[in-house]
Amino acid sequence: MKFDNISDTALYSSKLIYGCMRIAGDNSELDRAKGKKAILSAVDAGYNHFDHADIYGGGESERLFGEVLKESPHLRDKLIITSKGGIRPRKGDEYAPTRYDFSKQYILDSVDGSLKRLGIEKLDMFMLHRPDFLMNIHEVAETFALLKAAGKVEHFGVSNFLPSQVEALRAVSSQAIIANQVEINIHNVSTLLDGTLDQCQQHNISPIAWCPLGGVAYPAWGNTFSTDDEHRIADELSQQSQRYQCEPWQVILAWLLKHPANIFPIIGSTTPARIEAAKTALSLEYSREDWYRLFEARNGESVP
Ligand SMILES: NC(=O)c1ccc[n+]([C@@H]2O[C@H](COP(=O)([O-])OP(=O)(O)OC[C@H]3O[C@@H](n4cnc5c(N)ncnc54)[C@H](OP(=O)(O)O)[C@@H]3O)[C@@H](O)[C@H]2O)c1
Repeated sequence: MKFDNISDTALYSSKLIYGCMRIAGDNSELDRAKGKKAILSAVDAGYNHFDHADIYGGGESERLFGEVLKESPHLRDKLIITSKGGIRPRKGDEYAPTRYDFSKQYILDSVDGSLKRLGIEKLDMFMLHRPDFLMNIHEVAETFALLKAAGKVEHFGVSNFLPSQVEALRAVSSQAIIANQVEINIHNVSTLLDGTLDQCQQHNISPIAWCPLGGVAYPAWGNTFSTDDEHRIADELSQQSQRYQCEPWQVILAWLLKHPANIFPIIGSTTPARIEAAKTALSLEYSREDWYRLFEARNGESVP
């Protein structure tokens, strides 16, 4: 495993973060056992950073992780534990809209809920999950400061924020914004184009890539690829994986890792062999030419 600091903090994170969104599965005994095994496989493979959200598995993902920590308490101090909040599902009330909620009380309660389910005293990083259209930046800044002063959160980040939203919050928050967790994969390249990755480089904000394999290992969210697109990408990936002596999905991870903004991909597989094998991407000497070849295959045309 390789490691690097998140932003300029002392959080020395594995370059591959383990994503806990799928660990509770359907919450059956069988799926929970599989999830626990996945967590321990990730630890064995050298992942030291685990990504959560209050809503994953309706709270069951954090609860399952809490069980693992209870069974192996020595792990807590070795791991970086991140969670997210601010998405408010309708939860049984059919008339309630699913909404985003960055109001002070909701975020404070959300962090308390995560800490309780995880069975820990403090989150290493707390992220706002998706930008609340009704976000009051001053209220968020006040909430971050309260969480820090209470010793409940060490660092703060955002997720799915546009550069303008990051900038607005940065301008008023006493707490640094150290990471932006965004979707980056071969289908969704918006962060290359909308200034997100430029902003990350400029301010040393760590970009963390969710669903890094979307569009390759499984269909992309909101897939707009045609069958021709998919064939072109598969052909190029096949050539490159032969050249690098690895699997196509490992090439995709290398493609993300090539970016100078220092992207930390989140691995969401619950299959121990894949959790381990993802590390192959860290040692590929992936070339600029291949980066552009794959970009060209994805776009269906060369850059101008
Ligand atoms: N901030 C956000 O808004 C947001 C949104 C979504 C996700 N996330 C975070 O990002 C993490 C990663 O997302 P993700 O789970 O979608 O990531 P992913 O690693 O791109 O995808 C994992 C899925 O792909 C399958 N898979 C992996 N390698 C495969 C292969 N070689 N062939 C076929 N299938 C393969 C896995 O199946 P198996 O389990 O069977 O291996 C699993 O279903 C989440 O756990 C969560 O922490 C954040």
